[in-house]
Amino acid sequence: MGRLDRKVAIITGAASGIGKEIAKRFASEGAKVVIADLQMPAAEAAAAEIKRDGGIAMVVAMDVSDEAAVEVGVTRTIERFAGLDILVSNAGIQIVKPIDEFPFAEWKKMLAIHLDGAFLTTKACLRHMYRARGGAIIYIGSVHSKEASLLKAPYVTAKHGLIGLCKVVAKEGAKHGVRANVVCPGFVRTPLVEKQIPEQARALGISEDEVVRNVMLRETVDGEFTTTEDVSEAAVFFAAATTNALTGQSLIVSHGWFME
Ligand SMILES: NC(=O)c1ccc[n+]([C@@H]2O[C@H](COP(=O)([O-])OP(=O)(O)OC[C@H]3O[C@@H](n4cnc5c(N)ncnc54)[C@H](O)[C@@H]3O)[C@@H](O)[C@H]2O)c1
Repeated sequence: MGRLDRKVAIITGAASGIGKEIAKRFASEGAKVVIADLQMPAAEAAAAEIKRDGGIAMVVAMDVSDEAAVEVGVTRTIERFAGLDILVSNAGIQIVKPIDEFPFAEWKKMLAIHLDGAFLTTKACLRHMYRARGGAIIYIGSVHSKEASLLKAPYVTAKHGLIGLCKVVAKEGAKHGVRANVVCPGFVRTPLVEKQIPEQARALGISEDEVVRNVMLRETVDGEFTTTEDVSEAAVFFAAATTNALTGQSLIVSHGWFME
């Protein structure tokens, strides 16, 4: 018996990286998973992998910052799987630049994906969860929900914002049996981070190796990257919780980079 047996979970940004691993892990725990992403071939490949391993998965094309696309994706999920229990709001991108050089359009794009995306998917899922009298929403925040770094103004702003959204969802959702929590990973070696290593090296005038050792992992207790499996474990923990005892919380999974 899996910890998420018979649950239906939408995971945004699940064609790659952390979201893909969460989808695989949720499926192995018995959930029916919906891979909601922009990248269709990669999303189909992730679903195929899950099915090959005996899981149940479907794909929906979704830009999380597009209200109509979010509505369609959530409706298709409910039609196909006859319910909706869990949302993992994970889709995200990274753009690194100093604030005085940050183009306004790129600032707005970052907030649209991270914050509008979290709001729109939450809103669409909550309506169904309220009707069903239960649900769990998990936001993928970051150590940058708690801490700042150079060059990451919109990312840090958005990731701090997710904690605020989560707390309001926890308060409003409680009487409907809906819980909301945030998982805050440290650096995980996904395409999002691979892209940043040369960019940060250029922006800070240091080598790529120094970016990894002195910027990304310096404050960890063991010099190790967080893994997608580490993050998935925390996501299952929140998804499988059964009461309002665990709501409105954020859990940092970062090899001790940030402690509170
Ligand atoms: N990798 C890390 O070190 C790290 C650390 C902390 C938090 N995070 C967060 O984890 C989440 C996943 O990041 P990742 O590292 O797995 O990145 P990734 O680039 O491997 O995957 C991100 C996925 O999101 C999708 N996506 C991007 N914009 C989208 C949109 N508008 N609508 C739908 N899907 C969209 C992409 O197509 C991709 O499949 C992000 O929110 C990120 O901020 C990552």
